[in-house]
Amino acid sequence: MMRLDRFLCETGTGTRSEVKQLIRKGLVTVNGLQETSPDRKVGEETDVIAVRGEQRLFHKFHYYLLHKPAGVITATRDSGQETVLDLLAGENIRNLFPVGRLDKDAEGFLLITDDGGLAHRLLSPKKHVDKTYFVRTKLPFLKQDAECLEAGVDIGDEMRTLPARVEQLADNEINLTIREGRFHQVKRMLEAVGNEVVYLKRLSMGPLALPNDLKKGCFRPLNEEELLKLRQESLL
Ligand code: URA
Repeated sequence: MMRLDRFLCETGTGTRSEVKQLIRKGLVTVNGLQETSPDRKVGEETDVIAVRGEQRLFHKFHYYLLHKPAGVITATRDSGQETVLDLLAGENIRNLFPVGRLDKDAEGFLLITDDGGLAHRLLSPKKHVDKTYFVRTKLPFLKQDAECLEAGVDIGDEMRTLPARVEQLADNEINLTIREGRFHQVKRMLEAVGNEVVYLKRLSMGPLALPNDLKKGCFRPLNEEELLKLRQESLL
């Protein structure tokens, strides 16, 4: 059980003073009945709470989508360098961590959460969640390079990479979809075909893509539909 005003804050409805106002104005219902006391105790999983008729769902965990810019490291804290968590200004970042990593010079889609179970399932090597990267290469990307990457290449690990998907966009630009998440994997795959990555941006992870309107360095919470898709993917 928790206070109604806290429940509304936790579900992203507003600040403590904003939600108190909403409650006092009679805009909040608990199980269909108007509730005007911010300190009313509610069951976060059992009571149906709505604001202006719209139900608010409680999540024990938090989920954010960050458009990582280059120059920021994928870590929770660092003594000198700016981390991806430093970009989540205004959020309670306690317990949050990035799901997988993007290199310091890489950009794009990064999921940040405090849901260890979901992160573990998404990152599990057995799971093979697709990750698509936009890659700009130093040298022209050749047809036979695509064939190599699609078949799997030796990047110096015990196992060759799993078959990838390549979509050529321009002489030096491809979209590359991989199903693993090995250290510096994309860079090492391009090295394996005698090329070099000069720009790397993750476009998607599993069923979720980087939204066009999410500017570099900005973040937003996942919406209900996105979270559902991600959960389903992690359970496949
Ligand atoms: N592959 C890389 O080489 N770097 C990344 O940041 C992600 C995938």
